[in-house]
Amino acid sequence: MRSILLKSPAKLNLYLKVINKRKDGFHNLVTLFERIDLCDDIRLTDNIGGRIRVFCNHPRVPTGPRNLVYKVAAMLKSDFALSRGVDIRINKRIPVAAGLAGGSSNAAAVLLGLNRLWRLALSHTQLLTYAKKVGSDVPFFLYGSSWAVGTDRGDRIRKVNLPIKLWHVLVVPKAPVYTAKVFGALSLKAEGAPNLKLTKKWSDVNILIRALRNNDIFKAGRLLSNDLESAILDVSPNIVHLRDKLRNYNTLGAAFSGSGPSIYSLVKTKKEAKKLSSDLKRNYSQVFVVRTL
Ligand code: C5P
Repeated sequence: MRSILLKSPAKLNLYLKVINKRKDGFHNLVTLFERIDLCDDIRLTDNIGGRIRVFCNHPRVPTGPRNLVYKVAAMLKSDFALSRGVDIRINKRIPVAAGLAGGSSNAAAVLLGLNRLWRLALSHTQLLTYAKKVGSDVPFFLYGSSWAVGTDRGDRIRKVNLPIKLWHVLVVPKAPVYTAKVFGALSLKAEGAPNLKLTKKWSDVNILIRALRNNDIFKAGRLLSNDLESAILDVSPNIVHLRDKLRNYNTLGAAFSGSGPSIYSLVKTKKEAKKLSSDLKRNYSQVFVVRTL
């Protein structure tokens, strides 16, 4: 029986600007993605009986059609009228509903994996069409790039080549925060809000990319930003203490990732990351030292 082992990394958003609300209900945005070395492992094994089965060591991860990996497998099986199925075993390390795109990354990994396991010979463009159908964060993980700018829904990807590798301390509060709820909170108070104006949408992300290209992590730290911050705090007001705590540490900067509630600091060295993480571990159970992958 054929079996394939896949690595499925998480992402951070170092910059996220919301441009406007679209007719389809999504929001146009500009974001800088960073792939990090916090990874799930996924094993795909042929299921001769033709079933799609998902197994996961994390109790809150759905194993039925609500799981994005199930969706990917079901779409491909139906589109190619395949009689074979697949067992998908996910070893979860990436916190769930945390703004780290764990589910989207799993979906991208399984899409690439099934293309091999089922010998579908799908082109990059075809894979991209499937990825966009599954979720806004899925396409980034098809590019095999540490860095990329995402536009439109965040699903139109431009790879960015940066030689730098960053150290972060990542804190994930226990309460999950759901993306739709955060975008919903944003649009409720959208009318005339300055962060939805078409100002500076490109200039800031390019300044941040230039700072990273020049190895200027001090400047990069000051440019970390996320327009969803106030909506995240509206949905989950208790996180404000963690945000203030992280901002009061002597780091280069701190910001929420995606729709939160994960918040990360940028630090200069691994040593500093370890020191900060052991401080934070006294009060928070999910603290990770992560690096650009
Ligand atoms: O694409 P994804 O399934 O991750 O999106 C989840 C939800 O987040 C969407 O249903 C939408 O409410 C919101 N969203 C948005 N604009 C985006 C991405 C997500 O409004 N660019």
